[in-house]
Amino acid sequence: MRVLVVGQGGREHALCWKLKQSPLVKEIYAAPGNAGIATVADCVPIGVADIVELADFAEKLKIDLTIVGPELPLTLGIVDEFQKRGLAIFGPTRLAAELEGSKVFSKEFMRKYSIPTAEAIACNSTDEARDALKKMRYPAVIKVDGLAGGKGVVIVNSKQEAEDYLRMVFDEKKFGNAADRILIEEFLTGEEVSFMAISDGKRVLPLAPAKDYKKAEDGDNGPNTGGMGAHSPAVVLSGETAGEIMKTVIVPTIQGMATEGRVYTGVLYAGLMLTPDGPKVLEYNCRFGDPETQVQMLRLDSDLAEICLKVATGNLGDAKLAWRKEAAACVVVSVEGYPNEHPLGQEVEIDAIDDESVVIFHAGTVRRGAKVINVAGRVINVCARAATLSEALAKVYEAVPKIRFAGARYRRDIGFRALEQRKQAAAE
Ligand code: AMP
Ligand code: GLY
Repeated sequence: MRVLVVGQGGREHALCWKLKQSPLVKEIYAAPGNAGIATVADCVPIGVADIVELADFAEKLKIDLTIVGPELPLTLGIVDEFQKRGLAIFGPTRLAAELEGSKVFSKEFMRKYSIPTAEAIACNSTDEARDALKKMRYPAVIKVDGLAGGKGVVIVNSKQEAEDYLRMVFDEKKFGNAADRILIEEFLTGEEVSFMAISDGKRVLPLAPAKDYKKAEDGDNGPNTGGMGAHSPAVVLSGETAGEIMKTVIVPTIQGMATEGRVYTGVLYAGLMLTPDGPKVLEYNCRFGDPETQVQMLRLDSDLAEICLKVATGNLGDAKLAWRKEAAACVVVSVEGYPNEHPLGQEVEIDAIDDESVVIFHAGTVRRGAKVINVAGRVINVCARAATLSEALAKVYEAVPKIRFAGARYRRDIGFRALEQRKQAAAE
């Protein structure tokens, strides 16, 4: 079959890398792709938000299956456009993608279906937000309703910090319409985990749990990012907790969305806090995680194309997902300064790596002539698979210095806390 992958990050490179191994897949296209994706797929210069052009392309090339990486085209209705033309596409419709596209919608949905989440109050103005904050304790969390490129959530420690943020949101309109409404939310403590499942709207298959490291700096300090590293298994997530998340979050979400007439297909990603009162949802994403996908694809034994086609045609049947026993780890090499202002356009060099279990996925790169140039904050994902998590991490960290560009930086502690926790659990 011919497959089109929409997107241009490390997640999409990992998806293309995995698709390439499928005996069912004859041709892979990526729109717009990146310098790494170009080594496994034909890249076509169509932006992820140009959904009509993407559908025209898929029609013209008789694409058998399209897999969508990022949330933007999903919330814009790419799936609706493709389905209207009878094209198979993996991902939720516009109405279903609102679980990610509107935090107010998802909060109301969770309340209605008794899905555990933080307490929150929706507000339309600074005055309403001030009133809501009086009912909360600090730290509190403020979230803008719409998509804000991962920057629409802030933890405020005082009234002053809250006021400053509200000014940015409502007076300076820093987030535009995405922040016409906001949520003032209770601050939860605990370990954060990502849990993903694939659904055809009826059946649900969990993906191997992955742990993502969202903070920019070592020790989980600094600002939130898209993710600075990941590993699978997640370690902090026991089989028992995974079962609880399926029962209290994932299955009720799929069922609730069907009841709402917003049948959910594709990947459902729940960002969760493992609180002392059990797992609670921080957010939903309507897509694969980045960089979680990179480690999941290294561990997935099943045929990705086959599973995605079954989902896209609404018929998972009795399909199962098989996972390798080995562990996988990923470290993101970013530009100094990311996620804040950072320079772009440096040449990226990658020395030869003499180890087949190490896989390099490109994120923000393009090829210009003979050179690879960085075009986004997260540049390269160094990944490895090995018998144990500590071995996978060791392989990754040995390979990281082979990535060279001005201002390259990475977290040095990906996975180490998980290994500590495992040691502690073994000692108890
Ligand atoms: P979100 O986009 O809603 O997942 O928020 C981004 C990040 O902010 C999360 O990954 C958490 O680290 C943090 N966060 C969001 N909501 C809360 C909350 N209620 N309590 C504590 N931290 C939160
Ligand atoms: N790694 C976080 C995300 O994909 O949203």
